[in-house]
Amino acid sequence: MLVLGVETSCDETGAAVVEDGRKIRSNVLLSQVEKHARFGGVVPELAARSHLEGILYVTDSALREAGASPKEIGLVAATCGPGLIGGLLVGLSFAKALALGAGKPFFGVNHLEAHIYANFLAHPEITTPLLCLTVSGGHTDLVYMEDHGKYQILGRTRDDAAGEAFDKVARVLGLGYPGGPYLEKAAQQGKPGTPLVRTDSLARTYDFSFSGLKTALINRVHHYRQKNEELPVADLAATFQQQVVTILLERTFRAVDNLGIKTVLLSGGVAANGELREGFAREAAARKIRFFCPPLELCTDNAAMVAACGYFRFRDGGSSPLDLPAFPRLSWKLKA
Ligand code: KG4
Ligand code: ZN
Repeated sequence: MLVLGVETSCDETGAAVVEDGRKIRSNVLLSQVEKHARFGGVVPELAARSHLEGILYVTDSALREAGASPKEIGLVAATCGPGLIGGLLVGLSFAKALALGAGKPFFGVNHLEAHIYANFLAHPEITTPLLCLTVSGGHTDLVYMEDHGKYQILGRTRDDAAGEAFDKVARVLGLGYPGGPYLEKAAQQGKPGTPLVRTDSLARTYDFSFSGLKTALINRVHHYRQKNEELPVADLAATFQQQVVTILLERTFRAVDNLGIKTVLLSGGVAANGELREGFAREAAARKIRFFCPPLELCTDNAAMVAACGYFRFRDGGSSPLDLPAFPRLSWKLKA
């Protein structure tokens, strides 16, 4: 079955056609990054208007590239949350109208769940149960996935998401936007120094906290500035990145050991980070368990992962009602 996926939750307008939840026939993305860059972050109103301008174009392109007409589509799936409400409403309303007009079923996808499915697209051999760390600009969730649609949240961030912390620190260090990839690049030129934080107050839990790390880094920056010393940007970036990666690895692989996990996944925008990917590969190899992460282009937001997620959830539980609202704060517990 062909599924048309639509993604508009943040600053990427995406449409994709995926076959049987595993094979990408097309995956079109219109990035708004340049529009938001001069503001140093995503401007919700601007994002919503840009989605409205781009949604028809990306959908047309995705259908054309896949060589499919709306009649050949078996399901229209769109992100219904979490995300920015204006953008979500654009994608959701568009997808519902398309489904209604073409006489096709519609499914509202949880964006966090969709990030996990980027892995299923890239690695068809993946089977459940599994453990997935989803690290994005808005979330840091350690999730046990028993089967499609069956999740248990082991841990989440108590404050900033990992990507958000990367972005804020990159801004303080005067690097580009969005900060994660720029901070990684800077870190490659530097050496990690003294750890920013020595104690881990959440060490007995699977939860995360990054705001203390971020504040410690900002204090260190102030320290250099007060002394009129040149900022060792690359070393500070390397120190910060190493400490974030250490925490992410510690939580994930303690859960792997405690629960006897045999398959571990990484997903979300921060999964594009090389040091994190290498750390996961190393720890998984040491335990002789399977590790998968999506290729870089499927780590960040895209519509193929939405289509893949929609396929499996629709297959197992049927369609969503056409009056399904957008959920800006949708968590794992709420069923879409
Ligand atoms: O999943 P995503 O595209 O959007 C959300 O759903 O939030 O994730 C975007 C986040 C941003 O914070 C970005 O800085 C971060 O992923 N990111 C990275 C890297 N590439 C993207 N963080 C660290 N290293 C990277 N290479
Ligand atoms: Zn995302």
